[in-house]
Amino acid sequence: MRLALALSLCAATAAQADHRFEGRDLAAGAKLYAEYCANCHGTVLEGQPDWRSPGPDGTYPAPPHDESGHTWHHATGVLLDYTLKGGQAALATRGVTGFRSGMPAFGEVLSEADALDILAFIRSSWSERAKTAQRQQSHPEG
Ligand code: HEC
Repeated sequence: MRLALALSLCAATAAQADHRFEGRDLAAGAKLYAEYCANCHGTVLEGQPDWRSPGPDGTYPAPPHDESGHTWHHATGVLLDYTLKGGQAALATRGVTGFRSGMPAFGEVLSEADALDILAFIRSSWSERAKTAQRQQSHPEG
């Protein structure tokens, strides 16, 4: 009985950690992705060539958002900050300074709901394994 209760609480927590992706508008996310993100991150989420090596100005190219990249390694809060505040500010809030990020801030043009629709669209391309890993990263932050 106790074990069952503990397990159901765990399940509730895991589901909760994912709540920001529930009921998202994937079609709207795909459209916004095509408009605002695809020119750097690729029309099919493939990223820019040689994205693991910095360019002449020291910034890294845009990584893929499909499973070959590392988007699914990051908690939802990090992905949202990266999208809305830009790479530099997202890293600075987490104590990483002196790093030049090529990821611009979209907080002026996109709402948090827009950004979550885009991220949900990106997430929909991942395997269940990657989705679970990303959800675990996000716990308890959500
Ligand atoms: C001008 C090119 C450009 C555009 C447009 C752009 N990005 Fe990026 N993005 C980058 C670069 C470059 C990086 C790598 C940043 C770094 O090295 O810190 C990045 C990194 C990211 C990351 C963190 C890395 C990862 O895979 O988790 C996220 C999340 C992200 N971008 C989301 C978006 C979203 C969502 C959009 C559209 C709203 C978008 N980007 C549009 C260039 C761009």
